[in-house]
Amino acid sequence: LYIGVDLGTSSVKLLLMDETGDIKNIVTKEYPLYFPKPSWSEQNPEDWFSGLMEGLKELTASHKKESIAGISFSGQMHGMVILDKEDKVIRPAILWNDGRTQAECDYLNDEIGRDKISSYTGNMALTGFTAPKLLWVKKNEPENFEKIHKIMLPKDYIAYRLSGVHCTDVSDASGMLLLDVKNKCWSKEMLDIIGLKEEQLAKIYESYEVVGTLKEEIARELGFPVSCKVIAGGGDQAVASVGTGTVGHGMCNVSLGTSGVVFIASKEYAEVEGNSLHVFAHADGKYHFMGVMLSAAASNKWWMDEIIGTKEYGREQAGINELGKNNVYFLPYLMGERTPHNNPNARGTFIGMTMDTTRAQMTQAVLEGVAFALRDSFEITKKLGVTIDRIRINGGGAKSPLWCKIIANVLDVKVDKINSEEGPAFGAAILAAVGCEEYDTVEEAASRLIKVTETTEQDSEVVALYNKKYEVFKDLYPSLKTMFD
Ligand code: XUL
Repeated sequence: LYIGVDLGTSSVKLLLMDETGDIKNIVTKEYPLYFPKPSWSEQNPEDWFSGLMEGLKELTASHKKESIAGISFSGQMHGMVILDKEDKVIRPAILWNDGRTQAECDYLNDEIGRDKISSYTGNMALTGFTAPKLLWVKKNEPENFEKIHKIMLPKDYIAYRLSGVHCTDVSDASGMLLLDVKNKCWSKEMLDIIGLKEEQLAKIYESYEVVGTLKEEIARELGFPVSCKVIAGGGDQAVASVGTGTVGHGMCNVSLGTSGVVFIASKEYAEVEGNSLHVFAHADGKYHFMGVMLSAAASNKWWMDEIIGTKEYGREQAGINELGKNNVYFLPYLMGERTPHNNPNARGTFIGMTMDTTRAQMTQAVLEGVAFALRDSFEITKKLGVTIDRIRINGGGAKSPLWCKIIANVLDVKVDKINSEEGPAFGAAILAAVGCEEYDTVEEAASRLIKVTETTEQDSEVVALYNKKYEVFKDLYPSLKTMFD
């Protein structure tokens, strides 16, 4: 048996899988998220660990605990956990969605210079990333900075509590802005810029590599064998993509969750002009490119729940069939935007209404606006020379057949749904199985376990109409930009 742990922002989700890939049980434990000041976002690492232990007991209560061979992780990325020399947590973790580091990012991108930072790491500084958080601690809490013995990412901290090993993996470490992503080693230049020594960072593994076994007292408490292996795991987007089988080269996963992600697996590293996509290591041993929009399914949820005032999303979308002919546009920047604009001040906008505009057309505009914003990331990937003719889709928004159809036509691709909706936790269990040599490679495991169950195809006439609409959409943000500043 294998366990996949998805350490998320609101909860930890645990999944038990057998050798054939069958899911035997799923358990979720929630924990609090703290916003001590506007734009701050913190969590207590002890809450992750107690949720994890409680969840592991519940998950395995009526299963053969002695058969548990391995456990691995998908983690919320970028969070900063700092430990003192007794391995005690120094301060609450500062999370991926914390926005306190704008000044530190400006220092890195403007004073040190974006080109330099990018040549060391493959990426530019963004407020969510870990390195700017360390600079913030150095400036605002120097006594805490002095105490730092080890820096860990969220899922690495729980792996440490289970195994006693200070480890991290290449995919999650990519989001720290401390890793030389191309060469998968810590960047000496970045360590100097932040004022750190390499021994303050964890040892780097591939996501499917074994870092150790359970500590004896943990194995005893859980009733698991002491030989149970702990496998490094990865960042949530990379592991979710393992869970949808988006591995190897040229495959693309689109996630329609609260945020929207275009994720492209690549066998080679490449620099992306203007750092418009994240360039990270993948959990399959290779690389990936990623565009992240901040309000995808969140835009539709806002429109349905707050403005229309309904939970009947399907009924609201039922009458929409004139694809490519809507003259209303929606810019989905309700929480600012990451890819491609990198502008926290960007805002949501409707444009193009007339006296005969209907509520259905505005609903359609919201779904289309998200699809066009995903296309912005998609267009960047075309410049990398990657041809994508089909995508896999996951996340809550993928439940809407209309939205899948709009995305197929706006991106001009076939849209595949697969046999599991458990992206990150399933991906983590797959990594555990690979680490325990149930499969030779992540790619082999994915091709054996993940099957396409449903495909939505594009229609060339609608694609042509949407191509024209996208030309209009593309010009809207630049025209409105001064209004957002
Ligand atoms: C990735 C990202 C999110 C977080 C939280 O860059 O910011 O996926 O990991 O889920």
